[in-house]
Amino acid sequence: MTIAVVGAGNVGGALADSWARAGHAIRLGVRDTGKFKGQELLDYPGITAHAIAEAVRPADVVLVAVPPEHTLSLSEVMGDLNGKVLIDATNAVRSRPEGYPTAFHAFRALTRADVVKAFNTTGFENMRQPDYGPFRLDMFMAGDSVRGKAVVSRLAMDAGFGACHDFGGDDRVVLLEQLALAWINLAIFQGMGRDIGFRLVRRGSS
Ligand SMILES: NC(=O)c1ccc[n+]([C@@H]2O[C@H](COP(=O)([O-])OP(=O)(O)OC[C@H]3O[C@@H](n4cnc5c(N)ncnc54)[C@H](OP(=O)(O)O)[C@@H]3O)[C@@H](O)[C@H]2O)c1
Repeated sequence: MTIAVVGAGNVGGALADSWARAGHAIRLGVRDTGKFKGQELLDYPGITAHAIAEAVRPADVVLVAVPPEHTLSLSEVMGDLNGKVLIDATNAVRSRPEGYPTAFHAFRALTRADVVKAFNTTGFENMRQPDYGPFRLDMFMAGDSVRGKAVVSRLAMDAGFGACHDFGGDDRVVLLEQLALAWINLAIFQGMGRDIGFRLVRRGSS
Protein backbone atom coordinates (compact mmCIF):
# COMPACT_ATOMS: atom_id res chain seq x y z
CA MET A 1 0.00 0.00 0.00
CA THR A 2 0.98 3.62 -0.31
CA ILE A 3 0.75 5.26 3.11
CA ALA A 4 1.01 8.97 3.85
CA VAL A 5 2.35 9.61 7.36
CA VAL A 6 1.41 13.13 8.41
CA GLY A 7 3.59 13.99 11.39
CA ALA A 8 6.88 12.06 11.36
CA GLY A 9 7.53 12.46 15.10
CA ASN A 10 7.55 9.77 17.78
CA VAL A 11 4.43 7.90 16.62
CA GLY A 12 4.57 8.63 12.90
CA GLY A 13 8.28 7.82 12.78
CA ALA A 14 7.87 4.48 14.54
CA LEU A 15 5.05 3.33 12.26
CA ALA A 16 6.69 4.68 9.10
CA ASP A 17 9.76 2.60 9.91
CA SER A 18 7.77 -0.60 10.61
CA TRP A 19 5.51 -0.25 7.59
CA ALA A 20 8.43 0.47 5.27
CA ARG A 21 10.11 -2.72 6.51
CA ALA A 22 6.86 -4.57 5.76
CA GLY A 23 7.10 -3.40 2.15
CA HIS A 24 4.74 -0.42 2.06
CA ALA A 25 5.62 2.81 0.25
CA ILE A 26 5.76 5.58 2.87
CA ARG A 27 5.26 9.24 1.99
CA LEU A 28 6.01 11.50 4.94
CA GLY A 29 3.80 14.59 4.89
CA VAL A 30 5.73 17.45 6.50
CA ARG A 31 5.50 21.22 6.81
CA ASP A 32 9.10 21.85 5.72
CA THR A 33 10.76 19.14 3.62
CA GLY A 34 14.17 20.68 4.43
CA LYS A 35 13.78 20.47 8.21
CA PHE A 36 11.48 18.17 10.16
CA LYS A 37 11.51 15.74 13.07
CA GLY A 38 12.23 12.24 11.72
CA GLN A 39 14.47 13.36 8.86
CA GLU A 40 16.69 10.28 9.46
CA LEU A 41 13.78 8.12 8.19
CA LEU A 42 14.81 9.13 4.67
CA ASP A 43 17.80 6.77 5.04
CA TYR A 44 15.39 3.83 4.74
CA PRO A 45 14.44 2.55 1.29
CA GLY A 46 10.77 3.14 0.56
CA ILE A 47 10.41 6.36 2.61
CA THR A 48 10.18 9.76 0.92
CA ALA A 49 9.23 13.25 2.20
CA HIS A 50 6.78 15.68 0.60
CA ALA A 51 4.59 18.67 1.29
CA ILE A 52 1.48 17.38 3.08
CA ALA A 53 -0.95 17.59 0.14
CA GLU A 54 1.62 15.92 -2.14
CA ALA A 55 2.20 13.10 0.35
CA VAL A 56 -1.51 12.44 0.66
CA ARG A 57 -2.61 12.70 -3.00
CA PRO A 58 -1.50 9.22 -4.23
CA ALA A 59 -1.91 7.49 -0.85
CA ASP A 60 -4.40 4.72 -0.06
CA VAL A 61 -4.03 5.33 3.66
CA VAL A 62 -3.25 8.48 5.67
CA LEU A 63 -1.91 8.22 9.22
CA VAL A 64 -2.34 11.43 11.21
CA ALA A 65 0.08 11.67 14.15
CA VAL A 66 0.25 15.36 15.05
CA PRO A 67 -0.97 17.28 18.11
CA PRO A 68 -4.79 17.27 17.85
CA GLU A 69 -5.20 21.06 17.82
CA HIS A 70 -3.89 21.05 14.24
CA THR A 71 -6.74 18.85 12.97
CA LEU A 72 -8.81 21.68 11.50
CA SER A 73 -6.01 23.23 9.46
CA LEU A 74 -4.79 19.77 8.40
CA SER A 75 -8.22 18.82 7.10
CA GLU A 76 -7.96 21.73 4.67
CA VAL A 77 -4.32 21.18 3.72
CA MET A 78 -4.69 17.44 3.01
CA GLY A 79 -7.22 17.96 0.21
CA ASP A 80 -9.98 15.55 -0.83
CA LEU A 81 -9.70 12.27 1.09
CA ASN A 82 -12.63 10.51 -0.57
CA GLY A 83 -11.82 6.79 -0.93
CA LYS A 84 -8.85 6.95 1.45
CA VAL A 85 -8.57 5.43 4.90
CA LEU A 86 -7.55 8.04 7.50
CA ILE A 87 -6.08 6.62 10.70
CA ASP A 88 -6.34 9.03 13.64
CA ALA A 89 -3.58 8.24 16.15
CA THR A 90 -4.05 11.41 18.20
CA ASN A 91 -5.21 11.76 21.78
CA ALA A 92 -6.99 14.86 23.06
CA VAL A 93 -4.95 14.85 26.24
CA ARG A 94 -3.30 18.27 26.40
CA SER A 95 -5.29 19.91 23.60
CA ARG A 96 -8.24 19.28 21.30
CA PRO A 97 -9.49 20.70 18.00
CA GLU A 98 -11.67 23.72 18.56
CA GLY A 99 -15.35 22.75 18.54
CA TYR A 100 -14.81 18.97 18.64
CA PRO A 101 -14.21 16.49 21.48
CA THR A 102 -11.47 14.66 19.55
CA ALA A 103 -9.60 14.86 16.26
CA PHE A 104 -11.60 11.83 15.08
CA HIS A 105 -14.87 13.77 15.38
CA ALA A 106 -13.36 16.67 13.43
CA PHE A 107 -12.06 14.40 10.66
CA ARG A 108 -15.47 12.69 10.41
CA ALA A 109 -17.16 16.07 10.06
CA LEU A 110 -14.64 17.76 7.78
CA THR A 111 -13.37 15.02 5.43
CA ARG A 112 -14.84 12.30 3.24
CA ALA A 113 -12.28 9.70 4.39
CA ASP A 114 -13.03 6.34 6.01
CA VAL A 115 -11.81 7.44 9.47
CA VAL A 116 -10.53 4.90 12.00
CA LYS A 117 -9.16 5.57 15.47
CA ALA A 118 -6.10 3.38 16.11
CA PHE A 119 -2.44 3.40 17.13
CA ASN A 120 -3.30 5.73 20.04
CA THR A 121 -3.49 3.32 22.99
CA THR A 122 0.17 2.67 23.69
CA GLY A 123 3.47 4.49 23.79
CA PHE A 124 5.46 5.12 20.64
CA GLU A 125 8.20 2.77 21.87
CA ASN A 126 5.66 -0.06 21.75
CA MET A 127 4.63 0.91 18.24
CA ARG A 128 8.26 0.61 17.24
CA GLN A 129 8.62 -2.73 19.05
CA PRO A 130 5.41 -4.53 20.11
CA ASP A 131 7.29 -7.82 20.51
CA TYR A 132 7.69 -8.66 24.22
CA GLY A 133 9.46 -11.99 23.70
CA PRO A 134 6.92 -14.68 24.59
CA PHE A 135 4.03 -12.60 23.24
CA ARG A 136 3.15 -9.51 21.25
CA LEU A 137 1.10 -6.52 22.39
CA ASP A 138 -2.35 -5.97 20.89
CA MET A 139 -3.70 -2.95 19.08
CA PHE A 140 -7.27 -1.60 19.27
CA MET A 141 -9.39 0.37 16.81
CA ALA A 142 -12.78 2.07 16.59
CA GLY A 143 -14.98 3.69 13.95
CA ASP A 144 -17.99 2.98 11.76
CA SER A 145 -16.00 2.11 8.62
CA VAL A 146 -15.77 -1.66 8.18
CA ARG A 147 -13.50 -1.19 5.16
CA GLY A 148 -11.24 1.15 7.11
CA LYS A 149 -10.96 -1.24 10.03
CA ALA A 150 -10.00 -4.14 7.74
CA VAL A 151 -7.11 -2.02 6.43
CA VAL A 152 -6.06 -0.94 9.93
CA SER A 153 -6.15 -4.52 11.20
CA ARG A 154 -3.72 -5.57 8.46
CA LEU A 155 -1.44 -2.61 9.17
CA ALA A 156 -1.38 -3.47 12.89
CA MET A 157 -0.13 -6.96 11.96
CA ASP A 158 2.40 -5.44 9.57
CA ALA A 159 3.67 -3.30 12.48
CA GLY A 160 4.16 -6.46 14.54
CA PHE A 161 1.14 -6.39 16.88
CA GLY A 162 -0.38 -9.72 17.91
CA ALA A 163 -3.99 -8.76 17.11
CA CYS A 164 -6.09 -5.69 16.42
CA HIS A 165 -9.32 -5.72 18.43
CA ASP A 166 -12.44 -3.90 17.26
CA PHE A 167 -13.75 -1.60 20.04
CA GLY A 168 -16.86 -0.78 18.00
CA GLY A 169 -18.12 2.17 15.97
CA ASP A 170 -17.77 5.94 16.12
CA ASP A 171 -19.54 5.89 19.49
CA ARG A 172 -16.57 4.00 21.02
CA VAL A 173 -13.87 6.45 19.94
CA VAL A 174 -13.90 8.41 23.22
CA LEU A 175 -13.64 5.11 25.10
CA LEU A 176 -10.57 4.24 23.02
CA GLU A 177 -8.98 7.59 23.95
CA GLN A 178 -9.73 6.72 27.58
CA LEU A 179 -7.83 3.45 27.12
CA ALA A 180 -4.89 5.61 26.04
CA LEU A 181 -5.34 7.66 29.22
CA ALA A 182 -5.30 4.41 31.20
CA TRP A 183 -1.93 3.53 29.62
CA ILE A 184 -0.60 7.03 30.38
CA ASN A 185 -1.83 6.74 33.96
CA LEU A 186 -0.09 3.40 34.55
CA ALA A 187 3.11 4.21 32.65
CA ILE A 188 3.66 7.74 33.89
CA PHE A 189 1.50 8.72 36.88
CA GLN A 190 1.65 5.35 38.63
CA GLY A 191 5.35 5.06 37.73
CA MET A 192 5.31 1.71 35.90
CA GLY A 193 7.38 3.06 33.04
CA ARG A 194 6.78 3.07 29.29
CA ASP A 195 7.72 -0.60 28.74
CA ILE A 196 4.19 -1.78 29.48
CA GLY A 197 1.30 -2.46 27.12
CA PHE A 198 -2.10 -4.06 26.67
CA ARG A 199 -2.88 -7.56 25.46
CA LEU A 200 -6.27 -9.26 25.52
CA VAL A 201 -6.34 -12.86 26.70
CA ARG A 202 -9.21 -15.28 26.18
CA ARG A 203 -9.83 -18.37 28.26
CA GLY A 204 -9.32 -21.57 26.29
CA SER A 205 -7.06 -20.08 23.61
CA SER A 206 -3.28 -20.45 23.51
N1 LIG B 1 4.09 9.92 22.12
C1 LIG B 1 3.35 8.83 22.28
O1 LIG B 1 3.80 7.83 22.87
C2 LIG B 1 1.95 8.79 21.72
C3 LIG B 1 1.22 7.59 21.78
C4 LIG B 1 -0.05 7.53 21.23
C5 LIG B 1 -0.59 8.63 20.60
N2 LIG B 1 0.13 9.80 20.56
C6 LIG B 1 -0.46 10.96 19.86
O2 LIG B 1 0.20 11.08 18.61
C7 LIG B 1 0.29 12.45 18.24
C8 LIG B 1 1.75 12.79 17.94
O3 LIG B 1 2.53 12.56 19.12
P1 LIG B 1 4.11 12.40 19.00
O4 LIG B 1 4.59 12.02 20.36
O5 LIG B 1 4.47 11.57 17.82
O6 LIG B 1 4.52 13.94 18.72
P2 LIG B 1 5.91 14.54 18.20
O7 LIG B 1 7.01 13.56 18.32
O8 LIG B 1 6.04 15.86 18.87
O9 LIG B 1 5.62 14.76 16.64
C9 LIG B 1 4.64 15.65 16.22
C10 LIG B 1 4.68 15.73 14.72
O10 LIG B 1 3.61 16.58 14.32
C11 LIG B 1 4.12 17.47 13.33
N3 LIG B 1 3.31 18.68 13.35
C12 LIG B 1 3.15 19.54 14.38
N4 LIG B 1 2.31 20.51 14.01
C13 LIG B 1 1.94 20.25 12.74
C14 LIG B 1 1.10 20.92 11.81
N5 LIG B 1 0.45 22.07 12.10
N6 LIG B 1 0.94 20.36 10.58
C15 LIG B 1 1.60 19.24 10.26
N7 LIG B 1 2.42 18.56 11.09
C16 LIG B 1 2.58 19.09 12.31
C17 LIG B 1 5.57 17.70 13.71
O11 LIG B 1 6.27 18.09 12.55
P3 LIG B 1 7.57 19.04 12.57
O12 LIG B 1 8.75 18.16 12.49
O13 LIG B 1 7.40 19.88 11.35
O14 LIG B 1 7.54 19.86 13.83
C18 LIG B 1 5.97 16.29 14.16
O15 LIG B 1 6.33 15.48 13.07
C19 LIG B 1 -0.32 13.27 19.38
O16 LIG B 1 -1.65 13.60 19.05
C20 LIG B 1 -0.30 12.31 20.56
O17 LIG B 1 -1.37 12.54 21.45
C21 LIG B 1 1.38 9.89 21.10
